[in-house]
Amino acid sequence: MAGNPVETHYGRSDLGEAILAALKAAGKDLDHLTPDDLAPIDEFHGGQRPATIRLAELVGFTGTERVLDVGSGLGGPSRYLAWHYGCRVSGVDLTAEFVRMAEMLTRLTRLTDKADFRHGNALELPFEDMSFDVVWSQNAAMNIADRDRLYREMARVLKPGGKLALQEVAAGSAGPPHYPEQWARTPGISFLFSQEATREALEAAGLRVLVWHDTTQAALDAAQARARNAGGPAPILGTHLILGADWQAMFRNSARNLEERRTELFNAVLEHVG
Ligand SMILES: C[S@@+](CC[C@H](N)C(=O)[O-])C[C@H]1O[C@@H](n2cnc3c(N)ncnc32)[C@H](O)[C@@H]1O
Repeated sequence: MAGNPVETHYGRSDLGEAILAALKAAGKDLDHLTPDDLAPIDEFHGGQRPATIRLAELVGFTGTERVLDVGSGLGGPSRYLAWHYGCRVSGVDLTAEFVRMAEMLTRLTRLTDKADFRHGNALELPFEDMSFDVVWSQNAAMNIADRDRLYREMARVLKPGGKLALQEVAAGSAGPPHYPEQWARTPGISFLFSQEATREALEAAGLRVLVWHDTTQAALDAAQARARNAGGPAPILGTHLILGADWQAMFRNSARNLEERRTELFNAVLEHVG
């Protein structure tokens, strides 16, 4: 997988040092870190922790669920589900450096008995059929062209009656996004589909829609607040630590793309009906 253009986009070799230095500079006690301390950095998607809480509430977790987080990044949402609800969560991600970060941050928050992470591809999930009660994925599919295969893989590892929880960026009606965006600096690794086309692909994989919310307005409000702050100096803690030198342009484009309806955001919960 090394050399994969998606991994090249996200990967950054000194990320661990940068995150630890920022946490110290923000006055966090590294011996007593909580998922709340990490949320400004490790919730690596538009809307951050509030969006994760919204999606989790749509699922209605009881804490007994075995959960797979596809495209788990630094593991922030996985740790939140493990910590807040008590779920047992596995994450899988294509970017090896993010998997290392997810493991480091899980050790630092003392959640290793509840959350684990693997380097792997969502198109070939390294898990047995029917292993999970919930498959969860936030802002990962926009890097994945073969949606039929992605959703088939997600359905394969779900138990019958299990739930798929999605937060995804969709194509808007106004044409392709302005780049750089947070998931791609160029169109080569950006694969956006309309909400309608996405829903069709999900249904064809044996998934029945229980909830479908267009969350573009909430995403726009969050993106505009971030774009305004991107005019000034970088905050101590934030996803700019992951994004790299062009983070300000990415934040501005995120807001602009949503505003111009080049992108949309949705939340969905589906049931595996086979
Ligand atoms: C914007 S980040 C979101 C991370 C995490 N879901 C979150 O919300 O904090 C997108 C993630 O998707 C991962 N990703 C992209 N394509 C993937 C694939 N084919 N298989 C597994 N992970 C993938 C990237 O490596 C990256 O970590």
